[in-house]
Amino acid sequence: MVLVLGIVGSPRKGGNTELIVENALKSAREAGAETDLILLSENKVEPCRACDACSKTGECVIKDDFMHVFNRMAKADGIIMASPSYFESMTPQMKALIDRTGYYNSVARGRTTFDGKVAGAISIARRTGLANVWTQQLLFILSQKMIVPGITSYANAVGSAPGDVLKDEEGMRASSDLGKAIAELALRLKE
Ligand SMILES: Cc1cc2nc3c(=O)[nH]c(=O)nc-3n(C[C@H](O)[C@H](O)[C@H](O)COP(=O)(O)O)c2cc1C
Repeated sequence: MVLVLGIVGSPRKGGNTELIVENALKSAREAGAETDLILLSENKVEPCRACDACSKTGECVIKDDFMHVFNRMAKADGIIMASPSYFESMTPQMKALIDRTGYYNSVARGRTTFDGKVAGAISIARRTGLANVWTQQLLFILSQKMIVPGITSYANAVGSAPGDVLKDEEGMRASSDLGKAIAELALRLKE
């Protein structure tokens, strides 16, 4: 069994990011994985305070949902990170999660939590910032020593109002390919 986790970085519940991540997870299930979904809209993750307490105690001083999200990421074999473009960047919700996760993993966990997990990124935009948001998430994934499977097309899609993304056939297809590729590689690595 492998577990693929999708993380939706949008503050909008039921929006385009959630829809495309659900689509990727459906493909992951069809390829034999179990799936989990985290909506950052339902989990409070504040920005890192750079207090460095975690280097001394192994614990984060901020009492919010971060450890709950981190533990679910640590449990997964595959992770899909997805964010809409907000003025050409990922959302503050996704950035806060990335900063807290990356720092905590480095300082409190000796940068071992995500080694060898399989991961990929999805970005959504009305029009601009797709490549930037995708690259920002991917650079984080690589920095955590995760493995990114190759796919034929980047999993980026366009949409403005909730549901628009479903009309971007190529984007939806690319997200299906990504979900399948992550599940298949995670299964192969477990053999
Ligand atoms: C604060 C804010 C900033 C945005 N900035 C951009 C942008 O720079 N470029 C763009 O193409 N779309 C931008 N958008 C549109 C969103 O990327 C788009 O509506 C996307 O589908 C939202 O995904 P969601 O439904 O998952 O929230 C912005 C939306 C908001 C609310």
